[in-house]
Amino acid sequence: MSKVTESPRVIVLGNEKGGAGKSTIALHLVTALLHAGAKVATIDLDLRQRSMARFFSNRRAWTQSAGVSLPMPTEFMNEDAAELLTLTPAQALQRFEAAGSEALQEAEFLVVDTPGADTPLSRAAHGNADLIITPLNDSFVDFDMLGLVDPVTLDLIKPSIYSEVVWESRKNKMLETRRSIDWLVLRNRLATTEPRNRKRLEERIMALSRRVGFRVGAGLRDRVIYRELFPFGLTVADLSPTVRPVAVSLTHVAARQELRNMVAELGVIPKGAGKPVAPAAASPVPSAAAVNAA
Ligand SMILES: Nc1ncnc2c1ncn2[C@@H]1O[C@H](COP(=O)(O)OP(=O)(O)OP(=O)(O)O)[C@@H](O)[C@H]1O
Ligand SMILES: [Mg+2]
Repeated sequence: MSKVTESPRVIVLGNEKGGAGKSTIALHLVTALLHAGAKVATIDLDLRQRSMARFFSNRRAWTQSAGVSLPMPTEFMNEDAAELLTLTPAQALQRFEAAGSEALQEAEFLVVDTPGADTPLSRAAHGNADLIITPLNDSFVDFDMLGLVDPVTLDLIKPSIYSEVVWESRKNKMLETRRSIDWLVLRNRLATTEPRNRKRLEERIMALSRRVGFRVGAGLRDRVIYRELFPFGLTVADLSPTVRPVAVSLTHVAARQELRNMVAELGVIPKGAGKPVAPAAASPVPSAAAVNAA
């Protein structure tokens, strides 16, 4: 796969598997970019769950009540979800295209969260992406959306349903704009147990990565801090002496570093920063030993 030569602007979180961590990674990415000084726009296309929209609504309420100021993204398609759900697919697509264009006029980055299903809106988001981030739990159930494995030998047989969606999106974008889509699969909720299962998955992920062309990165380990700050509309990137709704511990320091590493793998370069958020490096799948040692 070709190397990323410029910063992606439209970043889409996608995976048809529900619960893979799309919204969690989206929130952490947006807050990390905001703290790096970037202007960020968001669109939450999961019109039913609205996790990302809910998060920023919580953030507004918490900061107001705590009397502190924290950076916010500009939210688009943030109307009442009930109203958005009454739109026809064509109207919804039109709304999305208009929101996306407006967002890119005022923000450096547009982060789009998508539902865990193949919907016309989700397809449109994938088709407009510069970078697709697919979180993947360490589970063959989740891997099944990306690649089919032989039930006896566990050898990779072929790319499956979600890989085909990304392939189609890449083909269409190349035909329409002559631009490619970078695809990064992030392993999320890595546990320190189950080294055998992880090793097997690691091998299949690498085989599939070579076959369909995605990069593989370390996402976030399974940590309570990545979910417990949601009701406050905060992430570890926000914690400071004045923003501390939970007792701070050493594991939060590790989580912040992990988030920084994750953002570094994306290759996003906020204008203010003049360089990647942290040095971008080639990103092998973290070895079982490395994860166990962390
Ligand atoms: N790294 C992590 N550590 C701890 N909990 C996590 C982590 N990633 C995700 N979770 C939790 O896993 C659950 C699913 O995550 P999330 O809602 O982000 O997935 P999703 O892909 O957006 O799901 P959906 O397809 O339903 O929109 C949530 O309860 C979330 O708090
Ligand atoms: Mg979600």
